[in-house]
Amino acid sequence: MSVHKKSEIKKITTHQLQEMKNRGEKIAMLTAYDYSMARIIDGAGIDVVLVGDSASNVMAGNETTLPITLDQMIYHASSVVKAVKRALVVVDIPFGYYQGSSGEALRSSIRIMKESGAHAVKLEGGSEVKDSVLRILSAGVPVMGHLGLTPQSIYKFGTYTVRAREKEEAKRLIDDALLLQECGCFGIVLEKIPAELGREVSSQLRIPTIGIGAGPDTDGQVLVMQDMLGITKEFKPRFLRRYADLNSAITTAVNNYVVDVKAKKFPGEEEKY
Ligand code: KIV
Repeated sequence: MSVHKKSEIKKITTHQLQEMKNRGEKIAMLTAYDYSMARIIDGAGIDVVLVGDSASNVMAGNETTLPITLDQMIYHASSVVKAVKRALVVVDIPFGYYQGSSGEALRSSIRIMKESGAHAVKLEGGSEVKDSVLRILSAGVPVMGHLGLTPQSIYKFGTYTVRAREKEEAKRLIDDALLLQECGCFGIVLEKIPAELGREVSSQLRIPTIGIGAGPDTDGQVLVMQDMLGITKEFKPRFLRRYADLNSAITTAVNNYVVDVKAKKFPGEEEKY
C-alpha cells in the first residue's frame, strides 16, 4: 500500500497553470461542491476544481445562481478543500457579495479564503469589477475572471443564449479580458461565446483562458460535473459532452435495492452480524 503524505503530492498552483499555457498543455477544470465527489475528481487528475455558484442550481435546485449565499458557498468550499490533495481550488463569490463595493468584495474573499481554505476566488464581469479585482489582489488573494455568459446577470440579459456574436460586444469582451489580465487575474473563464472569439481572446492573452462553450482553442475547458456525468438529464446545451450516464446507473441501482428490500432479499446471510 502506498501512503502519500499530503505534502508529497505536487500541488497545482496558479503559476503552474501559466506554465501549462506557455507549453501548450490544456487545463482540465470541473466543478465540485462536496467532499466525496471532489475526492474522486482530484484523484482522477483534474487540474482545477471550481466550487461554482452553479451549486445553487445543481445542489439546491434553484432556477438561477442568484439565491446562493456566501455562507452556503463557504460550506461547499470547505468540504471540497478537505478532499483535494492536488488540484487548485477556486471558489465563486456569489451574487450580492461583491457588487456593492470593493471593500465588500475584499471582505467576502477573505471570508472564503479564511473559512474554507480555498486557493483563489472567481467573480463575474469586466471593467465594472475592476476596483474589486484590484482590492482582492492587493490582499494576496488570486482572482479568476469570468466573461461572456455571466449567469449572475441573467435578469439583465433575459436569456442563456450565446454572447458576443455582434462585433461591438466581442470587442468589449476582448477589452475586458485584457483589462482583467492587466489587473493581475491569473485566468479567465469564457462562457458560451463563438469559438472564433474564444480563439482570438486566448491568443491575445498571456494568461490562461478556460472555456465552457467557447470552442476548442481556449487554454482549458470547464464543465459542471453533474452535467458531464449525466446526472442532470434535461440540460442539453450543444457544448456539453456527457462522459457517463449516472442518472440511469443510479436509477437502476436504487430500483434493484428497492426490489431486494421489498422481497426480503437484503440483507442476506453474509450481510448480517
Ligand atoms: O458556477 C459555475 O459552475 C461556473 C462555471 C459554469 C464556469 O461558473
